[in-house]
Amino acid sequence: MNILVIGSGGREHALAWKFSKSPHVSKIYCYPGNDGILGADILSIELKNGESLVDIAMSHKIDLTVVGPEHYLCDGIVDQFREKKLTIFGPDKNAAQLEGSKWFAKEFMNRYNIPTAKAQVFTNESDAIEYVEKNGVPVVIKADGLAAGKGVTVAMSPQQAIDAIQHCFEGAFGDAGYEVVVEEYLEGEEASILAFVDHHTIKPLASSQDHKRLNDNDKGPNTGGMGAYSPAPIIDKKMWQRIDELILQPFLKGCQTDKLDYRGIIYAGIMLTEAGPKVLEFNVRFGDPETQAVLYRMKSDLAQAMLMTIDNRLADYEFEWEDQSAVCVVLVSGGYPGNYEKGHQIFGIEDAEKVGVKVFHAGTKRDNEHLSNSGGRVLGVTAKGDSLDEAVNHAYNGVKKISWTGMYYRSDIARKAL
Ligand code: AMP
Ligand code: GLY
Repeated sequence: MNILVIGSGGREHALAWKFSKSPHVSKIYCYPGNDGILGADILSIELKNGESLVDIAMSHKIDLTVVGPEHYLCDGIVDQFREKKLTIFGPDKNAAQLEGSKWFAKEFMNRYNIPTAKAQVFTNESDAIEYVEKNGVPVVIKADGLAAGKGVTVAMSPQQAIDAIQHCFEGAFGDAGYEVVVEEYLEGEEASILAFVDHHTIKPLASSQDHKRLNDNDKGPNTGGMGAYSPAPIIDKKMWQRIDELILQPFLKGCQTDKLDYRGIIYAGIMLTEAGPKVLEFNVRFGDPETQAVLYRMKSDLAQAMLMTIDNRLADYEFEWEDQSAVCVVLVSGGYPGNYEKGHQIFGIEDAEKVGVKVFHAGTKRDNEHLSNSGGRVLGVTAKGDSLDEAVNHAYNGVKKISWTGMYYRSDIARKAL
């Protein structure tokens, strides 16, 4: 079968790489991809003038399309593909609002008693500020719509909260910010729960944890994700039971009752609070960099699992995992998540792969024969080990082989779990 992966980051590289391991897969295309992803196994695909992704999927006889970034899903790519009888993995436009609108998600959670932070939505600046002044800090301010991961402020002072509210209403996030969700601050450890879901069944993938902050010890600004590991030891058997009971099964029931056409992956960012697991947000797509760590441990055939999900036969699919742990350390350009320099030659990727790590490309570009950095998050150095400790050491052995001017990474990925 032929597969199309949409997106250009490390997550998409990991998806394409995983598909390349399947005996059922003949060709893998990636749109738009990046120079580091594309190669002998993973082919580039271009949109000519006026062509749509639907046209491309038809002309390249694509049997399965998988979408990385949420904006395609929120814009209705699944609806467009299905209208042409094309097979695509993901929620339709209506169901994708679970990520596209924080308030849509919050109302869904409240309707189905899924534990989450208490929240209020505001369409006007002064009401939001008045509410914050009355209720105090810490508090979390969220632009309602998609804001490329930049729409959330955890405010520790009233001024920070007010600034964040004003920022939204001044149009910093366009239409996404004219509705603002003001949310109770939750304390605890975060984990990422990814689960496949169809009309009858929900089945989790292996657990994982991301590292959102830029610097060691969870300091510095929020980023897209600086590293991940799987499994997350904090999610033991008992915690899995609670997550299934409190979050996954009510999620499925909610989709069924609300008649959401959800045949894809749901990613719940959860906070393990003293009062139990609570959902911080839903994403309607794979996490980045969780996917790199999770898929690196997956024994199952991903394409087959997706096709069965799309066919509403997920109940008959059993995921299989390697016992080993996996760790992904993300290497970023100096200055990220702010402005960063691009175009520096990257050295040592082959040497890293010689020590047995897998390097997933997120922001690389080929000029002449050289690879250089072309994005904020550049590479995801991913490794396995019999223990988490071993996986961490293995990953950092790979990291040490790689360099470019300004390269930066966290040196404590997974340390909290050790
Ligand atoms: P989100 O995009 O909603 O996941 O938010 C990004 C990050 O902000 C999360 O990964 C958390 O670290 C933090 N966050 C979001 N909501 C809350 C909350 N209610 N309490 C504490 N931290 C939060
Ligand atoms: N790892 C965070 C995200 O994918 O949103």
